Amino acid sequence: MNSQADLPIGVYDSGIGGLSIALAIRRHLPHERLIYFADSAFAPYGCRGDDWLVNRVMSISHFLACQPVKAIVLACNTATTNAINTVRANLDIPVIGTEPAIRVAAQHSKQRRIALMATQRTIASRRVRELHQMYGSTLNMHLQGCPGLADSVERGELNTPHTRSLVNTFVSQALSHNPDVLLLGCTHYRFLVPHIQYVAGPSVQLIWPEHAIAKQLARRLYETQTLKLNCHSGGLALVSSGCLPTTRRLARMLTRSAWTISAPC
Ligand code: DGL
Repeated sequence: MNSQADLPIGVYDSGIGGLSIALAIRRHLPHERLIYFADSAFAPYGCRGDDWLVNRVMSISHFLACQPVKAIVLACNTATTNAINTVRANLDIPVIGTEPAIRVAAQHSKQRRIALMATQRTIASRRVRELHQMYGSTLNMHLQGCPGLADSVERGELNTPHTRSLVNTFVSQALSHNPDVLLLGCTHYRFLVPHIQYVAGPSVQLIWPEHAIAKQLARRLYETQTLKLNCHSGGLALVSSGCLPTTRRLARMLTRSAWTISAPC
């Protein structure tokens, strides 16, 4: 076993939404240790300007690389679609991104009509236009910005009247374009799947990418010979730029105690 394999993996989001990706990583790679960085003091990212976002994503990625970690997962569509090229150009460890799964949605849409629910910053990104051209130029794709929705999840409000009303509004707007696939392009929305599916109805398929990201991470660790192969069970250390006890309480609620959540060593 090389010592690089023993290093943890950095997982990063504007807040707690990326825990949906961390949970998938745990399922696929149960021996790995994760350092999860929630940038809760600066969430949401969805309304931030380009330069601010690239600088912020770069500085958190540097912080994680210095722990050190053997790979970084940007568990945030907004960070990935706007800043992953800069991060990859500046770090010499694998950097796995999270971006709207337009290719998969295109494969599943029989009517060739999908709707992407994401932050305004993701929707405005060049990367989303590129993905649309690459995988779905003949696909009718409605872009549904969802201002305020990630904030609700960030406050732990998964089932309040306000959150339900936001979901009703955004899903109804998306449905008015008659998609048969609803693509979740923000990791925070993953925690709202039951309500989104309820409003969308059974004939609309919901797609989110977390297992594909965990598999991609496993592939990259295998290629770089840094997969952890021993049978010690992994764990998650939580770092937050905001109030750590609050982030920890929300993380416990969202992950239903899948881990013993610790402070970073
Ligand atoms: N969870 C993030 C994403 O996947 C962004 C939420 C936000 O901070 O606006 O895009």
